[in-house]
Formats: sequence, structure tokens, C-alpha cells
Amino acid sequence: MHHLPALASVQAICYCPPMSIRLDQTVPFGRWLGEYELMFSLSASDRQRRILDCAAGPASFNAELTADGGTVCSFDPLYQFPGDEIQRQFFHKLDQVIDQIRATPEHWVWRYHRNPDELRQHRIGVMERFLADYRTGQGTDRYVCGALPTLPFEPDQFDLALSSHFLFLYSDHFSQAFHLESIRAMTRVASEVRIFPLIALRAERSQHLEPVCERLQRDGYRVSIEPVGYELQRGGHDMLRVYRP
Ligand SMILES: C[S@@+](CC[C@H](N)C(=O)[O-])C[C@H]1O[C@@H](n2cnc3c(N)ncnc32)[C@H](O)[C@@H]1O
Repeated sequence: MHHLPALASVQAICYCPPMSIRLDQTVPFGRWLGEYELMFSLSASDRQRRILDCAAGPASFNAELTADGGTVCSFDPLYQFPGDEIQRQFFHKLDQVIDQIRATPEHWVWRYHRNPDELRQHRIGVMERFLADYRTGQGTDRYVCGALPTLPFEPDQFDLALSSHFLFLYSDHFSQAFHLESIRAMTRVASEVRIFPLIALRAERSQHLEPVCERLQRDGYRVSIEPVGYELQRGGHDMLRVYRP
């Protein structure tokens, strides 16, 4: 587990007890608006909705859509840290991850991104865009620190809740119960939830997907798995859409 610096002013707006966070299991990589649009099949009218981005990390989605008149709240335990620390964690992992990608060519599809070098440059650009926005947005209601499965928001505070590259992807680290609880929490604060991708790190469908969908359906949720126009991890081209009962 990371050593957490004493950040009294930042922790005042952080809704998660720091000792419960296991940030070492996830990679602080972010995607940009163009990728979010494809991963979640976002339409022009979706862009006008009040959006909650869960496990948003250092994505530049919030910065870009806000600049374009949208309303986005990013939620992540990473926001307990100042920008410089997030940047340090990102560069600490960057080449390790890119090397792993090079070592497993069968797991990647080079259509949207052309190759590992271009992907690396892209992720650095996203981080820079995120940091420029986060430096003024940290501590506001656009960047909220906290951890699933607990969401510190009012029922229906948002229209649409998104989560990319966290739920299902880290299935070996987070239980089926954690996934169910997180999705239920997301549907409490937004009537519609979209999650991408549905494969785990080994590039196979998450072992939690089927049981989680079955349980949600039994409880009256409307659930569908839909193909989207984005694939980087081979086989990671589907999104889960959930509406609460
Ligand atoms: C790979 S990043 C995804 C960032 C962004 N969604 C994207 O696709 O560009 C995964 C994020 O999950 C966050 N995370 C880890 N545990 C979490 C939890 N319990 N609740 C919410 N986010 C969590 C990490 O801090 C990290 O920023």
C-alpha cells in the first residue's frame, strides 16, 4: 500500500478512510474524451447529461467535456493526492505497463492507437490535460475523492454514471460482492450506468460478469451487453448498460 502523506486540507473533502484504499492494485492511466465517446457510445444528448465518472483517475474526459459545456463529476480515491503526486505515480508505472504491453502482443489491437509508442505518448498527453484541470478543480465538486462501493451523492444527483477500466477489469482483486454493491450504488445516484470493458486483465471475460448480471436481473434491473466502437485490449469491445428497477 502507498504511504499516504498528511494532507489535512485535502482529506477534509475525501470520503474514504485512507487505510481502506488499495491503490497499488490499479494503474493510474487515463483516457481522453474521444475514447470515452467510443467506449460508452456517448451520443450528443448524452454529452448534455449530468455525468458521474466513477474510478475516473487521471482521465481528461472531465476537463474536455467541461470545457465544451458539459457537467461531469469525477470520483476516485486518487484525488486524495495533489497533482504532483498523481503525476509521480503515473510516471513510476508508465514504462512498466508499456513493457508489459510489448511483451504480450496477442492481447492488443492496434486500430485506435497505432503501436505501444504512440499509446505511451497519448497517455502522457492525457495526463497533462488532466493535471492542468485538476490543479484548479481539486477540492471542488468536479473532482470528488472517495472509493466504491460507497458513493457520497444524493439519489438521482446524476443522469448517467460511467466507469471505465476499473470494474470487471480488476476482477481478480475485487470480489463479486464488491461489483454488485458498486453497481447498485451507481444506480442509486444515476438511473443509468455504463461500464467498460467487461474483460479482466488476462484479456478474458470477467468471471464476475455473468453472476452479477443474473443477480441484477433477478432483482429487477434492466441489463444489456452491447458492442462499442473501441477495442484496445483484444476482446474488450463490449459495454454493460444497467438501468435500476
Ligand atoms: C485504470 S484507472 C481508469 C481511469 C479512467 N476511468 C480511464 O479509463 O481513463 C483505474 C482507477 O481506479 C481507481 N480506483 C481504485 N480503487 C477504487 C475504488 N474502490 N473506487 C473507485 N475508484 C478506484 C484508481 O485510483 C484508478 O484511478
